[in-house]
Amino acid sequence: LTVADAAPKTAKKTQSDAQTVTSVTHWTDKLFSFRVTRPASLRFRSGEFVMIGLPDDNGKPILRAYSIASPNWDDELEFYSIKVQDGPLTSRLQHIQPGDQIILRPKPVGTLVLDALLPGKRLWFLATGTGIAPFASLMRDPETYERYEQVVMMHTCRTADELAYGRELVGDLKNDPLLGELYGKDFASRLLYYPTTTREQSAQMGRITDNLNSGRIFQDLGLPPISPETDRAMICGSLAFNVDVKAVLEEFGLREGANSEPREFVVEKAFVGEGV
Ligand code: FAD
Ligand code: A2P
Repeated sequence: LTVADAAPKTAKKTQSDAQTVTSVTHWTDKLFSFRVTRPASLRFRSGEFVMIGLPDDNGKPILRAYSIASPNWDDELEFYSIKVQDGPLTSRLQHIQPGDQIILRPKPVGTLVLDALLPGKRLWFLATGTGIAPFASLMRDPETYERYEQVVMMHTCRTADELAYGRELVGDLKNDPLLGELYGKDFASRLLYYPTTTREQSAQMGRITDNLNSGRIFQDLGLPPISPETDRAMICGSLAFNVDVKAVLEEFGLREGANSEPREFVVEKAFVGEGV
């Protein structure tokens, strides 16, 4: 998606797409999350993304794709963002404060939705970096647990501090009133969390591809290996990550699906990398 795809037809439209920032949390010097008001008419499926942005110095919108990190029942919208120091949008976005306005084009789309998968027993969320954002939405959606007996969240970053947003989110989920009411004490066993680092020593280490290929993840969590009969997956990371994880899942016998053709796994890029 380019800015041109989502460019406003009139200045009036920009005005009507303004939402107010309600809170901002900085996790590291490269990562932050924020919440904004939700347009009353905005409906989305957990896992989808929208275009958000800020005006440039001439008032022209700089828009980028962002996964909605909050679940579809939430009154507000949450986003989890990188800070690219010379990035057209995030060099500015990283400075937003509560009360500021951002542009939000209310047209949610995306492939990481429950409807794009065939029914199954266990759902794997495989993410690196900010690729956890769509799963932050899906992990907080009760429908995920209605459809799957078990959810496994594998999140890998270079360093431990980059895992903090996901770690806190999963911790809070265990105390979530809605999920607690629905699943009670059982909930801990329904959501398995497997964070790893690759460039800093931590309790669990290694790339997602390596931990799947070696079988270490199955050993550590006491699960059978991934099989097309029982397991479904969603992938969100850099292009290189997505390509490599896709190959691993295909080795296990899973096939890529889409909204129009549900199968055993779906993929979405967490960002458009250089030269892609
Ligand atoms: P850009 O010019 O867009 O990017 C500059 C460079 O920074 C890129 O070439 C790439 O190398 C790197 N980069 C950009 N985004 C990331 C990232 N997220 N992680 C690591 N490196 C990155 N970004 C988010 O922070 N959170 C999201 O939830 C999110 N969802 C997305 C969903 C989709 C479908 C797509 C295609 C992209 C998504 N992005 C997300 C990326 C986002 O659209 C922007 O690229 C990002 O906000 C940086 O914008 P920018 O204008 O500052 O820099
Ligand atoms: P590694 O440190 O071994 O490269 P990045 O910051 O480069 O986007 O990487 C984020 C995380 O994703 C890092 O932990 C990185 O591991 C991992 N990663 C990057 N590329 C791949 C890939 N092709 N397959 C599996 N993991 C990857």
